[in-house]
Formats: sequence, structure tokens, C-alpha cells
Amino acid sequence: MSASGKERKFLARKMRAELQIRKAAGSFVFDENGKKYIDFVMGWGAGNLGWGNNHLTQRVRSFRGPDYVHPDYSYKAWSELAQLLVSITPGKLAKCFRATGGSEAIDIALQAAMIHTEREKFLSLEGSYHGNTLGALSVGASVYRKQYKNLLRYCSKIRLPLNVAALEEIKSHLRKRDVAAFIMEPVGINLGMLIPQQSFMIELQRMCKKYKTLLIMDEVTTGFGRTGKLFASELFNLKPDMLCLGKAITGGVAALGATITTRAVAESMEKIGNFQSAYGWHPLSVQAAIGNVRYYIDRGKKLLRNVVEVSDYFRTRLSYLPFKQPVALRIQGLAIGIDVGDEQYASQLQSRCRKRGLLIATEGSLLLLLPALNVERSTVDKALNILEKSI
Ligand SMILES: Cc1ncc(COP(=O)(O)O)c(C=O)c1O
Repeated sequence: MSASGKERKFLARKMRAELQIRKAAGSFVFDENGKKYIDFVMGWGAGNLGWGNNHLTQRVRSFRGPDYVHPDYSYKAWSELAQLLVSITPGKLAKCFRATGGSEAIDIALQAAMIHTEREKFLSLEGSYHGNTLGALSVGASVYRKQYKNLLRYCSKIRLPLNVAALEEIKSHLRKRDVAAFIMEPVGINLGMLIPQQSFMIELQRMCKKYKTLLIMDEVTTGFGRTGKLFASELFNLKPDMLCLGKAITGGVAALGATITTRAVAESMEKIGNFQSAYGWHPLSVQAAIGNVRYYIDRGKKLLRNVVEVSDYFRTRLSYLPFKQPVALRIQGLAIGIDVGDEQYASQLQSRCRKRGLLIATEGSLLLLLPALNVERSTVDKALNILEKSI
């Protein structure tokens, strides 16, 4: 039986890349034969500080706290992390709910929106991905509704592009005053690098406020510096009612998610919401998350400067690469999309890059690069040379 056959005998999975990861360090991963790859996927935005980051791994290894704390008890590190998250997130976010990862953080937000507004409808963007729980799938792409007819019934999807017509459509829903929340990624990394116009986002926020629909920003992948701001909501001066976090909240070294809400929303949710989570904010994960957030507080400015500089460098070099036809670059910080216009070509390029030692992601005809935020220029050069050769 082949290695992948053996693995799949007991482990359910969707096998995309047959790559056995043995080791990871900085911007690199190594397979079982010791072959080294530049990792420009970084766990789809989990490993923002690079793999094996000393600061994070030391904190986890030196942890001497309790194995476990039941959600009903108190634990100082929970309030410390909550306070830190509130201090760095935008707008008037005031209280944190504990989750194990991104999907659970989204589900908590949906529940809180229904409870707080006493409404049941949602609006989201067509084609989006917000996680794999039934709640998160309900606000994801319409295709999921074909698979599971019993998802939350009332979620309308706004078709792209995000232009004046989309705003009109949103308004036609909101003015009925029965939409609990509008949910989206501020920069649509899962939507082929959809970078909305400032004017669209400002108007969206204004309308949500006017019609008392809550604005939920899913920053599970955009959060923690990916787009050049600590949170992508800051690119548009947004003051969301809820922010959902996961992935890079621990730099990838432990599982943790968070839903951060305004005080008013939290009060409604605390009264009747269901958010008991046995492994939500496990002590070891909290140890990692506190270390991670402190890292951003202490060294975030320098890190974000690097994101902006390296992003400009990517833009310049990518615009000179001889793709077989003109490509569209959609770049925001170190979320880098190259739309090569053809799904098959994108997937060919991805596998040629992999053979040469570069891991990138694809979404349809888009090549997606999500390097570590502290990636070195020499690594970027090597990666772009591989991409150029693969063309
Ligand atoms: C934007 C977004 N939201 C939510 C999720 C779900 O997070 P998790 O896989 O931690 O449940 C993901 C995961 O890829 C995501 O990219």
C-alpha cells in the first residue's frame, strides 16, 4: 500500500498535496526525505512569525501552569489574554469569548448576533469561507447549501464585485430591519484576494449602523499583521461590533480562537448564549497566545514595516515576471494574489514550484502567497526565482 493509502486507511482527509512534513524552521519546511521547501503558505496564515519562532516555542516549553481548567472556574491567564486582545483590537471591542479555533469563533459571533438583535437573518459575500461548522457554512458560499439543506435558513449572499450595485442590494436587505449581522473578511483572502474599496467599506459600516445590523469582521486569516496592519479592519477605519480571530493568534504553535465583541453584545450573549467550550482557551494555548500578542505589542511596528517593505518588493518583482499572459496582481501586505487567468495553468505552476522547492497555494486561477511576516529578502528572491523558472 502506498504511503498515502496507509495514511487514509484510518485518517479521514481531503488529500491535496502528498507531502509528509517532518520538520519546520523559519520560512522553511522539510519533507520525510529531508528535501527543503520555502513555505509561502505558512498554514494559510497561521505561522505569521515563522515556524519554530524562539519566543513562542520557549513560552510553550517552559509552561508550568495547570494541565486544564474547567470553563466554570477562573484562571488569571484567561483575563490577561482577554485584556491584551481588547487593548490591541480596533474600535470599541470590549469583551472576549473563548474558542478553540476560527470556526467556533464564527459560530459564537453568529449566535451573539441573533441574541443581541433578536433577529435571525444574515448577510455575507457569495463564495466566502468562514469555517466548517454548520453555522460557519451557513454564511459561507451558496454551494454548501446544496450539500446541506438544513443550514441556517436565512443567509443571503451578496454577489461580487463590491460596487454600487452591491451596496444597493445590501441596502434592500438591511432596510427591512431584520438582518442580525453582516459578516465578511475585511480583505477576502479566501475570495481570491478581494480588496474592497475604502468607500464601499465606509458605506457598508454606515448602513449597518443605521439599520442596527451588527458588523462582524472575520479576521481569522487577515489578523495579526497579514495585510500590513495589525488587523485588516484598520485599513478601512472600521469599528466592527465583533471580530473573530484564530490561526496566527498563537503563531501556529497551539489551537485557539476568540470572538471579541462590544460590551453591549457581550452582555446579551452572557445572559442566554451557549458558549461553554471544554478546550476553548486551554492553558497551554493561552500561554502561547499571550506570548504572541506580547510579541506584537513589543515588536509589531518593526514587523509591520517589514510587511509593507517586502510587499512593495514583491509587487515590483512580480510585475516583471514573464507569465504566458498578462496577470492581475492583488496584493495587500503579505497576502499576495497573482491571478493568472486560468485554473489549470495556476495548478501547473503550483506543482512545478513544488518540485523546485517552493510551496504556494491556489484558489481557482489565483496563485496565493502567504509568506511569514518576517521573511528575509534573500528567501523572497529564491522563491521568485523558482516561480520565474516554473513559468
Ligand atoms: C477566514 C476564515 N474564517 C474561518 C476559518 C476557520 O478557521 P478554523 O479552521 O480554525 O476553524 C478559516 C480557516 O481557514 C478562515 O480562513
